[in-house]
Amino acid sequence: MYSLTRRAPGGFVLTASWLSTLLLTKAATTTTTSVSIPDPASWVNMFIGTTNGGHVFPGATLPHGMAKPGMDTDSPGDQAGYDADPIYNATGFSQLHDQGTGGGVSLSNFKLWAFAECPVDDSFAACPTSLESRKVLRNILPDGSPDDYAEPGYFASNLSTGIRVELTATRRTALHRYTFPANTANPRLLVDITNDGQMSNTIPVMTLNASTARVIGGADFQASFGPGRYRVYTCVDFLGDGYELGQPTEYGTWLGDSPIKYSVNIAQQYSGFGSQLGALFTFAPNPNGTTSILARAGVSFISTEQACANAEAEIPDFEFDSVRAVARAEWNELLGRIQVGTEGVDNETISLFYSSLYRTHVVPADYTDENPLWNSTEPYYDSFYCNWDTFRALYALMSLHDPVDFSRIVRGMINIQQHEGWLPECRGATQKQWIQGGSNGDPILGEFLVKYYEQAEELNVSTSALYAALLADAEDQPPDWDLEGRQANIWKSLGYIPSDVWEPSGTNTKQVSRTIEYAFDDFAVAQVANILGKTEDAAKYYGRAGNFINVWNPNTTVPGAEYIVGMMQPRFANGTFNYTDPRHCSANDPTQSTCYLNAVNTDGFYESSPLVYSQFVPQDTAKLVELQGGPAAFIQRLDFLFDQHYFDETDEPSMQIPFMYHYANRPGLSTQRARMVINEYFNTSVSGIPGNDDSRAMGTWATFLLAGMYPVPATRQYLLSSPWFPQISFYNPIFNKTTTIIANGFTNNTSGPIYVANVTVDGQPWNSTCYLEWDVFVSGSTVELQLTDDPTIGCGVLPPSLSTGGFD
Ligand SMILES: *[C@@H]1O[C@H](CO)[C@@H](O)[C@H](O)[C@H]1NC(C)=O
Ligand SMILES: *[C@@H]1O[C@H](CO)[C@@H](O)[C@H](O)[C@H]1NC(C)=O
Ligand SMILES: *[C@@H]1O[C@H](CO)[C@@H](O)[C@H](O)[C@H]1NC(C)=O
Ligand SMILES: *[C@@H]1O[C@H](CO)[C@@H](O)[C@H](O)[C@H]1NC(C)=O
Ligand SMILES: *[C@@H]1O[C@H](CO)[C@@H](O)[C@H](O)[C@H]1NC(C)=O
Ligand SMILES: *[C@@H]1O[C@H](CO)[C@@H](O)[C@H](O)[C@H]1NC(C)=O
Ligand SMILES: *[C@@H]1O[C@H](CO)[C@@H](O)[C@H](O)[C@H]1NC(C)=O
Ligand SMILES: *[C@@H]1O[C@H](CO)[C@@H](O)[C@H](O)[C@H]1NC(C)=O
Ligand SMILES: *[C@@H]1O[C@H](CO)[C@@H](O)[C@H](O)[C@H]1NC(C)=O
Ligand SMILES: *[C@@H]1O[C@H](CO)[C@@H](O)[C@H](O)[C@H]1NC(C)=O
Ligand SMILES: *[C@@H]1O[C@H](CO)[C@@H](O)[C@H](O)[C@H]1NC(C)=O
Ligand SMILES: *[C@@H]1O[C@H](CO)[C@@H](O)[C@H](O)[C@H]1NC(C)=O
Repeated sequence: MYSLTRRAPGGFVLTASWLSTLLLTKAATTTTTSVSIPDPASWVNMFIGTTNGGHVFPGATLPHGMAKPGMDTDSPGDQAGYDADPIYNATGFSQLHDQGTGGGVSLSNFKLWAFAECPVDDSFAACPTSLESRKVLRNILPDGSPDDYAEPGYFASNLSTGIRVELTATRRTALHRYTFPANTANPRLLVDITNDGQMSNTIPVMTLNASTARVIGGADFQASFGPGRYRVYTCVDFLGDGYELGQPTEYGTWLGDSPIKYSVNIAQQYSGFGSQLGALFTFAPNPNGTTSILARAGVSFISTEQACANAEAEIPDFEFDSVRAVARAEWNELLGRIQVGTEGVDNETISLFYSSLYRTHVVPADYTDENPLWNSTEPYYDSFYCNWDTFRALYALMSLHDPVDFSRIVRGMINIQQHEGWLPECRGATQKQWIQGGSNGDPILGEFLVKYYEQAEELNVSTSALYAALLADAEDQPPDWDLEGRQANIWKSLGYIPSDVWEPSGTNTKQVSRTIEYAFDDFAVAQVANILGKTEDAAKYYGRAGNFINVWNPNTTVPGAEYIVGMMQPRFANGTFNYTDPRHCSANDPTQSTCYLNAVNTDGFYESSPLVYSQFVPQDTAKLVELQGGPAAFIQRLDFLFDQHYFDETDEPSMQIPFMYHYANRPGLSTQRARMVINEYFNTSVSGIPGNDDSRAMGTWATFLLAGMYPVPATRQYLLSSPWFPQISFYNPIFNKTTTIIANGFTNNTSGPIYVANVTVDGQPWNSTCYLEWDVFVSGSTVELQLTDDPTIGCGVLPPSLSTGGFD
């Protein structure tokens, strides 16, 4: 039997029996799958995208874990703490991080730090405790990279002070091990209460226990991408690794660069916003050998008591190696549900695949029982940063192999809607953050229900609560649509968001891209209404799903390329169009606009050009083909986007563009473009992703493109191409079924046929080379693709669109 809570609700106790249960679970899984990658964790390169703005978190975490201990650096690109460029100093090892985000640095709270020696005869009072004074470089390896190592659930680094740091984690607790250089007379450990990534603390509290060395504390901090502040707590304990640590030989608090011996709380020292405060201990070294000290840091958004209770329950015995082994086993069980054939596949591709898949499970984070805003027995997830990045593809990936985590995320989202009125959009650190476009939670719920309607009850998802949550987004205008929901009233009355109507409850901006997204959001509502048998609602929302056409100006052309006719454009309430240059917000924008939230935004578009947004109507791509002049003109426009650099590989609105040739009956061109995206923009280097990971959107994209698929979210269809592997299989623990896609004729990654000539499902001919039905994955089928060298081969049956008969 699968377990509905892969992680026990109150946090699990680490025991040998728990570990063997996990390993048995894994063994059970592997018997149902043809396994060629028994240890996928060994293929995960944790450092992809950890410099040059990738903002990837390489530290230790469980799948969707809350505790994410990792190294923080003084890099300006330290959104996830770490930077792989060795010119940056380490500043601490903090307990909470995000994954691949922009905005201000999120979280990075409660840094720990170790001193092997302090100035002035190694004196306590002279220890350089502030972040600026204590920071040091890492050791640098002969190849010029820093001496850092990471694998799923584990991170290690050798600092230039000779101190080795290792990190691992359970759901809400971090475990650190600091190994000091030989002959360290006074091993010292520091707890930093106040320095989050933005140095934004107020109202810090902290006390230390002089005999046990327990530190409890917390503070208020600034959210990363929104107006809110949050409060978070920690509880830190120390234990000698292989020796009796004893009581600290010296202890005190510190303020800035001043350790204050024998002081045990910071209440008197706090001097204002940005004060740096914490605790400092000296311990006796190990008389029998190497001095290694374990530090266990529980975290909680509720209280210091809960932070301590979490730590004691999850890591009672400070057993570093078994915590690390459990984390790795959890990752292997999850990643191993997708298996790839490796014959003819180079190691780089296998590593790119599992590393990308790994990143898709770092967030959102399971904060169940850590919601400070209301009590509930439902799961609570956080770090949706943002749904705008992930609604397009990520959850359709989870549908394939991870329905249980997906269902828990959905339950958490519904619970938020029930308490706050609208679904979360860009939630971080328990706060509402800025929306980027539509109510992008809707297609996530739609994706779940379309795929798992029949299992919803078994997965404890209330279909009526899910539908009510969708209706709230679709119908109820919130007090501030920059934080949740939509500009619903005018959407309902006009069927688009006009450029020239100002309402008090939100910003009048990105009107065209919001119109396009609201239409897709309503498509998701319609899909759910349809399944629930709400015929009238379904008709209403399918109708609204067609509203994208209200911002289509059939006469707009591209300067210099007047053969491209018709464009999404801003429109006034009186029905006339304004004009935004189709090149706006692109690499070819003569005005070089950024089109981010901070831009002067009368142009109507967010982070991508009118040309790109004119391709984003997943619910009715057939209509776009028609509006854009038919298949030949559509292909010409797609080619123009790629050849003239309008396709923007760093930003999500372009993600589906490589596969759009399918809808013009030229899937071979999609295969070529999709492979180009992998070849040019993804690799396993530290700069191996385009832009930042965008909260795992880029990891999702690479995973799908390598699998030879791309989803149509909130539908039962996956667009199909050929995988980079001779076969790929997906194990689904709810169905207890494995679906295998076999690429007959596959030679290797660099040569041989790559186009799909025909498809059979369980030996029966399937009538399209361009898409698969979800049923294939429900029943655990064998899908055989016959590959060919001929790029002109067509689809047979084209993938569905609203205007060509709709979706089943
Ligand atoms: C899953 O399916 C396999 C056979 O494919 C079977 O041996 C096993 O008992 C099934 N597990 C459950 C929980 O039904
Ligand atoms: C690293 O720290 C040293 C010492 O404080 C400082 O001189 C150097 O500029 C720092 N490196 C960077 C990249 O900030
Ligand atoms: C750090 O140093 C230790 C001991 O010399 C070594 O075993 C380890 O591989 C080094 N690198 C990391 C990242 O731990
Ligand atoms: C050092 O080793 C001795 C002999 O095994 C042991 O009795 C003692 O407790 C150890 N010291 C510490 C601090 O662990
Ligand atoms: C590819 O990886 C396998 C397994 O780790 C290893 O045995 C093999 O040497 C690698 N091949 C190359 C060319 O690096
Ligand atoms: C949750 O329940 C606890 C225990 O009853 C209570 O102390 C706490 O105030 C409640 N939290 C909220 C946000 O209602
Ligand atoms: C597009 O051009 C045609 C022909 O000139 C005109 O009839 C139509 O009103 C124009 N549409 C818009 C939205 O400007
Ligand atoms: C429509 O509204 C715009 C902007 O408010 C205005 O400039 C334009 O003159 C109006 N056109 C008509 C036909 O009323
Ligand atoms: C019409 O578009 C221009 C160019 O983007 C812009 O400057 C102007 O503010 C827009 N007018 C309105 C009413 O939005
Ligand atoms: C791929 O297969 C072709 C044809 O068999 C062969 O010539 C080529 O060397 C292979 N390439 C690699 C990298 O294995
Ligand atoms: C599938 O394609 C192969 C290669 O083009 C061809 O030999 C075979 O007849 C095709 N099968 C069907 C059912 O069309
Ligand atoms: C394609 O095949 C499926 C399954 O046999 C069938 O339901 C569907 O009607 C077919 N589509 C067309 C357009 O023939």
